[in-house]
Amino acid sequence: MKNTNIEHLTPKEIVSYLDKYVIDQNDAKKTIAIALRNRYRRMQLPEELQHDIVPKNILMIGSTGVGKTEIARRLAQMMQLPFIKVEASKYTEVGFVGRDVESMIRDLANIALQLTRENENEKNKDKIEQYIENKILEKLLPSIPESASEQKKEEYTSTLEKMRQKFRNGEMDDLKITIEMPISSPTSGMDDMLPPQMISVQESIVKVLGGVNKKGPMKEVSVKEAKKIIRNEASNSILNEDEIKSLALEKVEKGGIVFIDEIDKIAVSSGSNSRQDPSKEGVQRDLLPIVEGSTVNTKIGMVKTDHILFIAAGAFHVSKPSDLLPELQGRFPLRVELNGLTEEVLYRILTEPANSLIKQYQALLGVEGMKLVFNNDALKAMAHYAFLANEKSEDIGARRLHTIIEKVLEDISFNADEYDGEEVTISSDDVIQKVASIVKDEDATNYIL
Ligand SMILES: Nc1ncnc2c1ncn2[C@@H]1O[C@H](COP(=O)(O)OP(=O)(O)OP(=O)(O)O)[C@@H](O)[C@H]1O
Ligand SMILES: [Mg+2]
Repeated sequence: MKNTNIEHLTPKEIVSYLDKYVIDQNDAKKTIAIALRNRYRRMQLPEELQHDIVPKNILMIGSTGVGKTEIARRLAQMMQLPFIKVEASKYTEVGFVGRDVESMIRDLANIALQLTRENENEKNKDKIEQYIENKILEKLLPSIPESASEQKKEEYTSTLEKMRQKFRNGEMDDLKITIEMPISSPTSGMDDMLPPQMISVQESIVKVLGGVNKKGPMKEVSVKEAKKIIRNEASNSILNEDEIKSLALEKVEKGGIVFIDEIDKIAVSSGSNSRQDPSKEGVQRDLLPIVEGSTVNTKIGMVKTDHILFIAAGAFHVSKPSDLLPELQGRFPLRVELNGLTEEVLYRILTEPANSLIKQYQALLGVEGMKLVFNNDALKAMAHYAFLANEKSEDIGARRLHTIIEKVLEDISFNADEYDGEEVTISSDDVIQKVASIVKDEDATNYIL
């Protein structure tokens, strides 16, 4: 799939991409695909109409381990859009200790900035390579003064070209040169912790300091390392930081997606009369304006959240969507329910997805020189017992497959060194022998699987 045209993907194409990794859950896939496409459609409209069309945020409801996060994760991988997945339970009300809700938008802005920078680097790849090459060649063969004789100049040019060729062929990679090391910014790494006002203060301090004391220490490195070190400098001098920021800003405002996981954990369930954490409701209240459309001060400027797409997900076992503040419920008008996993679906999850569980284990044991084969009956049996175990004790969805397969492969995995070069076939009898008795015994299921 071409990443460049991601915005032009039709809902069908998005769904068929997701199909490669997530089994079943067609409603959820469809809803998300349509929401994404609607954003694209909106962008094609006249400005004044664009402003009135707000994205329809999505609430995904489904018990644990049925693919909610998986759908989001795969979307993120596929899309060149700024995307962030956050856990609602990580936030606390403004004024309490912890992360404030607005920080999700600041994080999203940082992701957009990074994405934009990568894009621009890619676009200016040739210029950047050129800069690095010139810089290093200049070190290896300092240019000669203007006053030099014609003959000297010619010699110089011809040597330079020869070196250039060698450089491009990588023949100079092991040569040592002395270059100036970049000065690392003292703010890097703490950006998250600081409010944006502080960051801009810090940035200007760094600029001032950088102006006074621009030179970093000199160090001898190989040409190969120098290429890497100079790359940053090259990109900084070729790309325009302000332009990147404004591109990133546009990207977040028009294409940003925030996936809020575990939203049910901040719902205050009406049923239970135990004292609930008062800050849960506070977090919901803080979320309201962001989801509705407000402005958040970030490193790349003021981000308007009006057109950011929010996808919230939760199991809603203890609480219900109706336990969320009514205002918040209303801001997630699209509801999709994810299906519980049937035996048939569990079987498909074992085998079908690219990098399915089975393929993962085969690859892992392949490292030991073992060829692991599963009979189809064995796969059916694992799906069967996973389903039974989910029914009998807690339903943990597809994660049950992990525990079953671990149990089945326990001994083989432990003794893998003895099977070097051999083929090991797992039959349904093996599966039955390892897990049947545990699944039948409910108490044991609770503890072992
Ligand atoms: N429908 C599915 N198709 C393929 N794999 C799935 C599916 N559902 C779950 N899985 C697998 O099960 C694991 C857990 O799924 P996921 O993280 O999406 O659960 P979840 O719905 O977000 O649950 P929770 O509510 O606990 O966060 C993942 O490793 C995922 O690969
Ligand atoms: Mg999840």
